[in-house]
Amino acid sequence: MESNPPKIVCFMCNWAFCEEEMHVPYNVNIVRVMCVGRMDPALVLETFANGADGVMLAGCKPPDCHFVDGNLHSERAVKMLKKLLVLTGLGAERVKLLLVSPMEDKGFGYYAKEFSEEIWNLGDCPLKKAELASTIKANIDAAKNAASAFRLRVLLGREEELTEFMNAYGEKISEEEFDALLDEIVEAEFIRYKIYHLTKAKPCSVKELAETMGIKPSAVLRHITNMRRKGMIALDRVEGYTPLYKALEVR
Ligand code: FES
Repeated sequence: MESNPPKIVCFMCNWAFCEEEMHVPYNVNIVRVMCVGRMDPALVLETFANGADGVMLAGCKPPDCHFVDGNLHSERAVKMLKKLLVLTGLGAERVKLLLVSPMEDKGFGYYAKEFSEEIWNLGDCPLKKAELASTIKANIDAAKNAASAFRLRVLLGREEELTEFMNAYGEKISEEEFDALLDEIVEAEFIRYKIYHLTKAKPCSVKELAETMGIKPSAVLRHITNMRRKGMIALDRVEGYTPLYKALEVR
């Protein structure tokens, strides 16, 4: 376990807690935002890359969001962030969403202390371990790209529509089906951007990529085919019988 208290960053919406009555522990930094629903998930990942051990998002409990549904949007974003944090190796527990009512009787200090203890109990942040740091940094870069990927943004923006309303054929999908779909797309985007960053550093073969990422060569090949179609990657050269791929500049 760490000997120093963990570094916590809290992105807090302007209406979540009253400034004058807030007791903030010294290991917690607060960044005020207009609404937690406006938080870019890539910025949360960047906060980890810059040394935070835990990140909390604090906003208003439904139905109190001043931007109507920002808090609901933040619930979806945090769901995706937790999945990405698992893939980076940092772990889902390092991010927490706290939605509070204006009538809240517990102050911010209570929640900040509780979250600090949870993070402290997780032990050292893997990013601080020399043998893991470069892999985790590379994973965070891939996760940032994945979080900004068009199809993930579209999927998150449509969760309510897909799970609560029927389409023209009288079908709707369950929360579980939506979660499974989200899992699949988050993982696929993360792997593609890992491949992208690895082949940007140097041309790689399918076998090399599969070994580095610990996945099957057939899965790597499937992603490469998709990435070639999207203009993200191209054949660099063939060594012997082995094709090597390199990343293209994405506009
Ligand atoms: Fe507080 Fe949107 S204004 S969560």
